[in-house]
Amino acid sequence: MALVTMKEILEDADKRGYGVGAFNINNLEFLKAIVQAGEEEKSPLIIAVSEGAMKYAGVEYLSEIVKIAAKNASIPIALHLDHGKHFEKIMATLRNGFTSVMIDASDKPYEENVKLTSEIVKIAHAMGVTVEAELGRLLGKEDEVQSDVAIYTDPQDAKRFVEETGVDALAVAVGTSHGAYKFKGEAKLDIERIKKIKELVSIPLVLHGASGVPAHITKGLKEVGVDLKSAKGVPEEEIKKAIGAGIRKINIDTDLRLSFLLGVRRYMAENPTTFDPRKYLGAGMEIVKDTVKSKIQLFGSANKA
Ligand code: G3H
Ligand code: 13P
Ligand code: ZN
Repeated sequence: MALVTMKEILEDADKRGYGVGAFNINNLEFLKAIVQAGEEEKSPLIIAVSEGAMKYAGVEYLSEIVKIAAKNASIPIALHLDHGKHFEKIMATLRNGFTSVMIDASDKPYEENVKLTSEIVKIAHAMGVTVEAELGRLLGKEDEVQSDVAIYTDPQDAKRFVEETGVDALAVAVGTSHGAYKFKGEAKLDIERIKKIKELVSIPLVLHGASGVPAHITKGLKEVGVDLKSAKGVPEEEIKKAIGAGIRKINIDTDLRLSFLLGVRRYMAENPTTFDPRKYLGAGMEIVKDTVKSKIQLFGSANKA
């Protein structure tokens, strides 16, 4: 089928009270592994492309392969720009048929965030494209996405922000952060804050930085020489509580990166003279697929497509 909008996917999730994974891709291998997992679990999928991914692979390449994947799939798939920070990059995704964009002006003062978000809402909605925005600030650093300070989302501000901008989904800061090192102390989310925001805001809520950094992956990595030491992710119980409190879109990138790395490193450790990329990339894809399947089960989106 053709790509669907993220709004369509999240409306069903909101109605039936489950979460949908937004999985980041940078190349064909991750996309194929994610879509295979979605098909096997009969789950809707959100495929996320960051500005960093656009820089790495090119927006034309990425959008075309996702459109082909959707055309051949029996599950609904949305193509989403993750953390859009630059007007021209957001416009490039619209020109290339993305069905959803995130405008991330969360590092700007409130009024400026409203202004920038409203501008994108006006253009994207005229094209039938869903818009996600962010209020509050997450800690952490990835390639193109970073912040040194965390500011939790204020529920009253969230209500006002949604009314003033007309966005379709809102990313909230409730204790997660990007990357593999999310918590120094106890790994806990502010579930009460999610509930309060949900009471005041009728659109679907989004949890960024939701990777779990699973022990079986870090243990496996350690065995092949990758020691992540103090890495800590969001526990599965916290994710379940967050969905129960109203989170509908759950962003996962780090866990896929770790999974792929494990597959490749393990394959190379066991087959040190192999130089056929289809062998070691295929091994990476297998673990990415397993990880996506377990996320789909955790989020409750299995058999919802
Ligand atoms: O939240 C950010 C995503 O994980 C994308 O990261 O900018 O390194 O592609 P990236
Ligand atoms: P993780 O780093 O926890 O995978 O978060 C990804 C994310 O929020 C992408 O927008
Ligand atoms: Zn994010």
